[in-house]
Amino acid sequence: MTDSRLAGFYNLDLAQRQALLTKETGLDLGPIFGVGGLSAAQAAAMIENVVGVFGLPLGIAANFVINGKDVLIPMAIEEASVVAGASHVAKLVRESGGFRAEADPSHMIGQIQLVDLVDPAAAERALLAAKTEILAACDEVNPRLVELGGGARGMELRRLEHSPFAPMLVVHLIYDTVDSMGANSVNTVLESVAPMIEAISGGRARLRILSNLADRRLARASCTVRPETLRFEQYAGTQVRDRIVEAWAFAAADPYRAATHNKGIMNGIDAVVIATGNDWRAVEAGAHAYAARRGRYEPLSRWSTDDQGQLVGELELPIAIGIVGGATRSHPVAQASLALMQVRSARQLAEIVAAVGLAQNLAALRALVTEGIQRGHMGLHARQLAMSAGASGVQIEQIARRMVEEGVIALERAQELMQADSEA
Ligand code: MEV
Repeated sequence: MTDSRLAGFYNLDLAQRQALLTKETGLDLGPIFGVGGLSAAQAAAMIENVVGVFGLPLGIAANFVINGKDVLIPMAIEEASVVAGASHVAKLVRESGGFRAEADPSHMIGQIQLVDLVDPAAAERALLAAKTEILAACDEVNPRLVELGGGARGMELRRLEHSPFAPMLVVHLIYDTVDSMGANSVNTVLESVAPMIEAISGGRARLRILSNLADRRLARASCTVRPETLRFEQYAGTQVRDRIVEAWAFAAADPYRAATHNKGIMNGIDAVVIATGNDWRAVEAGAHAYAARRGRYEPLSRWSTDDQGQLVGELELPIAIGIVGGATRSHPVAQASLALMQVRSARQLAEIVAAVGLAQNLAALRALVTEGIQRGHMGLHARQLAMSAGASGVQIEQIARRMVEEGVIALERAQELMQADSEA
């Protein structure tokens, strides 16, 4: 993709948008254009007791430049304004050079809970002495992943003193899952090596499961925005910039606000995670646990001003997602989404997801510190209804404006206005 701007995309109807996207990308995006992309038979092979398939709108966020590359972002989400917000902010940020993003290697943490330890200190010594042997045993479980560059990377011990069952020892296995999210690989390794860990430590292994606080697999995104690009109606760019920093300070000082601030970030993150068939509950769990890592719930992003007066945004959170395995492979929309973004590795996908999260955060803050979110939200909703009622070109804006003025934003009203228009 050489240019993610997709001129006029927003004003096209559904079929025109699909045609433009196909022309611009040269890809077969059939699954994305279909109703959910998944047949009931495919769904039945994924989970139990299947009776149907649940669809979500899939939109394309335009204008993104991430690490110097244009990228079109597929977003699966039911909430209006999110895709428009991301596209709008991506346009502002591209004027200042786009987003920068980076992701750690795919190091997941697997936990083995050891109980019934007679001598925890001796157990620790024995486990540390056998570390090489334990890691080698881990690598024997999935030689294919080791061939692909993954496998055991380390072992750490954590003594939990504050449990009513103390002393409890937890073995952390650090395991590189390369391009997969890795829950299955990690859990298989943990279950395989648990008897060995029991024999060495003299304890009993209870839980053997990965941790969703994937803080060895962080992704970071940042952007620098010239204040003049933030200008909006009566608000000067510098004023919007300062209010955004002030809004961030509110989130930094108050967990009630931080939760909502982070929800805005997750609006963008989850939408891409879902569109690529990844486990969004895992990403959500990791994000919120990371937000509370200092013992207080905090915003995942930070907004400040640099020496040149530019607005600087930074975001960091665990993003454990993959491009192989599970639904990323079996779901046709996930495959098409990955092809659309030209993603080649799990790390690259995590970088994109982080950039979208930061964009979404800026979109929300920018609206909140100026007109509020309702006006834009209602305007967008009215446009969508006008288009669903068959309006095109300038008619979309006319009908949408009329509904907003009347305060009646409904499909029936859009249809009536269309009817009146055609009779005039
Ligand atoms: C709504 O889905 C998200 C926002 O509440 C985020 C925020 O308040 O920052 C607008």
